[in-house]
Formats: sequence, C-alpha cells, structure tokens
Amino acid sequence: MTAPAVVLIGAPGSGKTTVGTLLAERLGVGFRDTDQDVEHGCGMSVAELVRLRGEAPFRELERIAVRTALDEHDGVLALGGGAVLDPSTQRLLAAHRVVHLSTDPATALARIGGAASRPLLADDPERGLRELFRVRGPLYRRLATLTVDSAGTPAQAALRLALALE
Ligand code: S3P
Repeated sequence: MTAPAVVLIGAPGSGKTTVGTLLAERLGVGFRDTDQDVEHGCGMSVAELVRLRGEAPFRELERIAVRTALDEHDGVLALGGGAVLDPSTQRLLAAHRVVHLSTDPATALARIGGAASRPLLADDPERGLRELFRVRGPLYRRLATLTVDSAGTPAQAALRLALALE
C-alpha cells in the first residue's frame, strides 16, 4: 500500500487531466486518472457508460476506482469531478494531500466544448456548469488542503501548482 503524492479535485474543465499530466512530468512521477481507470475497467468511455447504463453504475465503478488508486498509486492522481460527492471518498481524502484545481464556469465550458463528452451536463451545459460550481465549489474547497487556479496555459498552471506544492 502506498499513497499519491497529490490528489487533484475540481470541476469538469478545470484541467485536472491536462495540468495533472504536466505536473507529474515536472515531478518525475506517474499520472493516473480515475475516469480512465473506469474506462479501462468497463471497456467503454464514461460518456457511453452514463448514456447506456445511467449515472448510478458509473458512480459505483468510480468509487471502486478511487479507492484502488488511492491505495496503489504514488504519483499524481486526478479524480473525476463528481467523485468527491461520495461520503466514503470524502472520508478517505482527509488522509491525503488534496489540491483543488479551480476555474470559473465560462472557462470550464470553453474547455469541455459542449455536452458530448459530459452527458450529465447534457441538457444545458452552461446552466449545468453554473449549478455545479454553486453546489460543489464549497465542497472542493473544504476537501482540499490547497486551491490553485488553473488560469492560463496548462504549462503555466502546472508550474503554478508545482510552486504551490513546494
Ligand atoms: C463528472 C465529471 C467527469 C466524469 C463524469 C462525471 C462530474 O470527469 O467523471 O462525466 O460529475 O463532474 P472530469 O471532471 O474529468 O470531466
């Protein structure tokens, strides 16, 4: 059993995967993403899984992916944006170095580019993201030991993050 050097949380479009990958390169450690773990485990994209089976089976697989990665991974770990909604995940995160990668709804919308990749925001991504930020913002901040803004290019954000972690 080991523990991630850093766990990244934040809204869809906050840059957890892109910035996290660059941060891992800077730190010389591996990068892991729970959305990708779920996708490898079930052989389809998260978007397909949610569309075909609904949100509940996805959340169950996500909970298992998070637990496994927190136990196995020693590099940078990015969690899917909604993973923090699970109370057991919230409890586990208390024992880790958790960074909230923050952004604003308009930037997040521009980054994710519409609804196709995020079916849970499908009806109205703009309104969905605004609501998501309103509800989850306080939760992300409460669970994190540090909040870092992901503004600018991914490389700039990764540098800002690396400096904040020193
Ligand atoms: C979700 C965020 C997505 C993905 C799924 C649900 C959410 O991950 O897990 O579409 O509820 O916020 P990203 O935060 O990596 O986009």
